[in-house]
Amino acid sequence: MSDRPVIEFTITEKQLDTGLRGYPVGTCWTSGVDPQRGVSYVGYPIAEIAHLPPEDVIYLLFHKHLPSADEAAAFRRDLQQRAEVDPAVYASLKGLPPGAHPMEMLCVGIQLLGMTAKTGDYKEDALNLVARIPSVLAAIFRIREGWGDPIESDPALDYVANFVHMLGMPSGDLEKLTTLLRTFYVLHMDHGGGNLSTFTGKAVASGLADLYQSLASAMNGLAGPRHGRANQDCLEFVRQVNTDDEALVERWVRERIAEGGLIFGFGHAVLREEDPRAQVQIAVGERIAPDNREFRIVKTLRKVVPPILKENPKIANPYPNVDLVSGSLLNAVGFTDPEYYTTLFGWARIAGIGAQIVDERLAFRNGKGVAIYRPKYVPVNQPTQTLSP
Ligand code: MLT
Repeated sequence: MSDRPVIEFTITEKQLDTGLRGYPVGTCWTSGVDPQRGVSYVGYPIAEIAHLPPEDVIYLLFHKHLPSADEAAAFRRDLQQRAEVDPAVYASLKGLPPGAHPMEMLCVGIQLLGMTAKTGDYKEDALNLVARIPSVLAAIFRIREGWGDPIESDPALDYVANFVHMLGMPSGDLEKLTTLLRTFYVLHMDHGGGNLSTFTGKAVASGLADLYQSLASAMNGLAGPRHGRANQDCLEFVRQVNTDDEALVERWVRERIAEGGLIFGFGHAVLREEDPRAQVQIAVGERIAPDNREFRIVKTLRKVVPPILKENPKIANPYPNVDLVSGSLLNAVGFTDPEYYTTLFGWARIAGIGAQIVDERLAFRNGKGVAIYRPKYVPVNQPTQTLSP
């Protein structure tokens, strides 16, 4: 853990105002993103661990090794024992304006969990939040959809199956939904230290805001269309394409580019090859929804779009990212409203960001923790001035 890379880095003027893109600012113990091979969790390539039980991968991110059978069983019990949510959380969520976006409700839900049960210990709070957020998220769906009161957690079920049980979705293929969500959850848990939501969460925590305040800030970061909300926008985009005929898709995409429209689900800030998380989801889709219309459109886009984007030399990555596929699969198993998709991404990322905050606050710099974030901004267009006497 103490192997620190030697990095020499000069910042030039050209790099200012580029969103810190690519600047080394810290270290990360939970995951890393290789431009060619994609994300790995504590050294394990994502495709190798995508089908592990989510609880084992949560354990990996917090403990930096995969659990033995005994450790895994104890960790599942620990999460179950932490899972109870104060009823005041549900009562307050019910009082939110009906037009609230699910991501707004998720952020409020996280803060409510903090208000009702914060311990002030980053690790305890992070594990409590991981354990409690499925109940809160399921309640958000139920309240917003008018499906009735929250459903009690069933400790006999695993982490994801329990979420599906608490959701109480009136239709859809629940078995396939559970299968899909297990992989979806693991794929979305972490993506290096510098993605916007993770960076935001750690920055807020560096001022010693508590874990809940930090995670709510992180989730607000995730809510934007350039970040986590891309999976919502992507299904809406796939629905607009509305055909899986290659020639028609090609024409549609070319017209859209000519009009200056965005092509969702392709490219990435760091990756320069196809995102392995997209490949894993394509394989899942072939198992659970091979004939689904949106999934077929996604596969056509995957084939047709990269050669078109490659025609523009300015596009560094013309390949599919994780968001291209996830919405179409959620839709295929009965989760048809894309407004909820980012909350599922957020649910997963709470584990990764939570583990990174715990590392930064409690372990880095021999336990002293990372200093308060304070990058330098260069003042410009500010000539020396003085008030007239
Ligand atoms: C992702 O999962 O791809 C991200 O959070 C975006 C990023 O890494 O910047």
